[in-house]
Amino acid sequence: MRPRRFRPAGPLRGEIRVPGDKSISHRSIMLGALAVGETRVTGLLEGEDVLATAAAMRAMGAKVERTDIGEWSVHGVGVGALLQPQGPLDMGNSGTSTRLLMGLVASHAIEAQFIGDASLSKRPMGRVIEPLSRMGAAFKASEGGRLPLTVRGASPAVPIEYRLPVASAQVKSAVLLAGLNTPGITTVIEPVPTRDHSERMLRGFGAELEVEEVDGTRVIRLRGEAELKPQVIDVPGDPSSAAFFIVGALIIPGSELLIRNVGLNPTRAGLIGVLRDMGGRIEEENPRLVGGEPVADLRVFHSPLKGIEVDPAVVPSMVDEFPVFFVAAAMAEGRTVTTGLEELRVKESDRISVMAAALTAAGARVAESEDGLTIHGTRGDPLPGTEGPIETHLDHRIAMSMAIAGMASTRGVEVDDTRPIATSFPVFEELLGGVSR
Ligand code: S3P
Repeated sequence: MRPRRFRPAGPLRGEIRVPGDKSISHRSIMLGALAVGETRVTGLLEGEDVLATAAAMRAMGAKVERTDIGEWSVHGVGVGALLQPQGPLDMGNSGTSTRLLMGLVASHAIEAQFIGDASLSKRPMGRVIEPLSRMGAAFKASEGGRLPLTVRGASPAVPIEYRLPVASAQVKSAVLLAGLNTPGITTVIEPVPTRDHSERMLRGFGAELEVEEVDGTRVIRLRGEAELKPQVIDVPGDPSSAAFFIVGALIIPGSELLIRNVGLNPTRAGLIGVLRDMGGRIEEENPRLVGGEPVADLRVFHSPLKGIEVDPAVVPSMVDEFPVFFVAAAMAEGRTVTTGLEELRVKESDRISVMAAALTAAGARVAESEDGLTIHGTRGDPLPGTEGPIETHLDHRIAMSMAIAGMASTRGVEVDDTRPIATSFPVFEELLGGVSR
């Protein structure tokens, strides 16, 4: 454990540049490892989760090397040519690595065991086991469809048409990645659109992929036995990492912060729209495309926020941002109501209960329901803060959210363990220290 008290340290001023997007970083290594030749990646997020993906792709035959800070070279083996890993694949804390790689293994003639930390070992894998079994893969999982689990891939796998029962980019991506080495057309039907980085990048690597939209439902068709061509990829900054600084600058009086390099893919940018609807002043500067994704620099000003009822339709586009959004709501004027958040209960922790407990400990007024939180804000007054440590349950986003709450509190907030922050945002504390005035 590495506890730390985050104390109020004045407004956030100056500028930061957010590190690479975690979702895109994972995918660039995975697809690079399946293309024959050298893929070069810049701006890669060097967090523990992405390093777990890199180690797993190495264990399956790819050459994955760091050439400089954030610069990586991947020599792929080709679709269909992944090698049998010699030991278990340790996924650490990373659900994305686990679920996407289960998809890759599912259509290769190899067997792999997946293991992970205490948080990951509690998370449900049935959601990917189900479609991948239909494609022919065989699974031996721990009770409740959990890790440790073993996947034996099917060769050849069978193409399926799969309608997602939960809005999950991880499940969608697992099926599409399995489809890469499956003869014929693999189809995923998404009733609610989720982040589309896999689709964008598969196309970029030369896969035949079509997306049809019918009444808001997305039908994605991928032609299997694909041949991927190596790419040069510049990873845009992670909006989910920027989120902590956006909320910090909005709620700490006197703040004005420039956050450079923020990915604004519409399937990820829900938080910004909701905060603007609450009265947050967030300006976009220098809009551009990076690695095929929209990116801008954001200038964020301290703003009085008003409570809101969050439309459940925006949930997928801000699914990872709710912990820090709850912190913003705790300091708004009036009541904020969130619903449709049941997926938050199966993230790195149960983010509904864990945030309810943490914010209550810090003096916020919070009521928990099955699928969300209702929060009565302080109308801009600082939260009182905590005496003892709040429990983060190995969840990086709880730790960072409560760090921001601490900066906006009277006494500070003690976080029980800051180590999990390194899974997604190793330089978080350094950047926060650099802009606190
Ligand atoms: C991710 C998808 C989301 C998100 C996770 C990253 C991805 O998970 O919470 O942090 O990279 O595909 P779900 O697909 O399970 O909602």
